[in-house]
Amino acid sequence: MKINIPVQETIKKRNSVRSYEARKLSAQDKEKLMAYAASITNPFGVKVNFHIVEKDLEGKDVKLGTYGVIKGATTFLGVSVENTQLGLEAAGYAFENLVLYATHMGLGTVWLAATFSRDNFTSAMGIKENDLFPAISPVGYPAEKKSLRESIMRKAMKSDQRKPWKDIFFKDSFFNPLTEQEAGEYASALEMLRLAPSATNAQPWRVIKQENAFHFYETHNVNARPEEKLIKRVDVGIGLSHFHQTALENGLSGKFEKLPQDNIDILENTNYIISFKY
Ligand SMILES: Cc1cc2nc3c(=O)[nH]c(=O)nc-3n(C[C@H](O)[C@H](O)[C@H](O)COP(=O)(O)O)c2cc1C
Repeated sequence: MKINIPVQETIKKRNSVRSYEARKLSAQDKEKLMAYAASITNPFGVKVNFHIVEKDLEGKDVKLGTYGVIKGATTFLGVSVENTQLGLEAAGYAFENLVLYATHMGLGTVWLAATFSRDNFTSAMGIKENDLFPAISPVGYPAEKKSLRESIMRKAMKSDQRKPWKDIFFKDSFFNPLTEQEAGEYASALEMLRLAPSATNAQPWRVIKQENAFHFYETHNVNARPEEKLIKRVDVGIGLSHFHQTALENGLSGKFEKLPQDNIDILENTNYIISFKY
């Protein structure tokens, strides 16, 4: 289902916010955001759960920490999902829809998969024991000025840059770059995927166009740790949200399904996730 906001405009506007005004989300904004969250669907047939907690600054919740990365925020969103096929991709897709909606409301967010006290958030958000809990995000009013630490992080990860088309989009094989002309009416959906946020800005998505389908893959370094590989699947889910929501905005229809990969030579350290058939 399409998010009821200008998708491409919002994707271009979004960036990670790590410095916030030190005030709670207003009751009105919280209600609007959570009402929207309750309506979010995903095309992978997986149930995704959203959570929200308010940090009590005076008392017991001070342990809900972000290792000093986040300044000022008191309200946090979280996402959890059953440990099932395409579960992490669905979590990425659905939580990114919520992030885009929050962006459209003028709120700041930043995906956090590493820099938060996971155990404390797990109990504060009431995450079920066997569920996966890939990420949280503060949500609130962006501060006028970024903290020094935030500016340094952005520079280190080159957060304002993305890989060029030729490195991530291909035609028929991983050795043949796809041009914007060849992408045709899907060029802007791919461009919006390219702009998506990812953990450490690694942009692990790769796409091959073949006849009337796009195949999506995840790629990682040889020495990636198991938990890093899991986060790459969330990243791909985020990219798929941008791709699909833009396609919907442009009146294009198609559907996600697993397709045979027999005639594609898949690179090492790269895994097939799903295809979009149109
Ligand atoms: C799945 C995921 C996990 C992330 N985890 C963290 C994190 O633990 N700490 C952090 O400061 N930023 C985290 N980020 C934010 C990325 O560093 C950021 O999205 C990237 O550098 C691109 O910058 P932008 O979001 O401003 O476009 C994460 C992003 C994603 C998508």
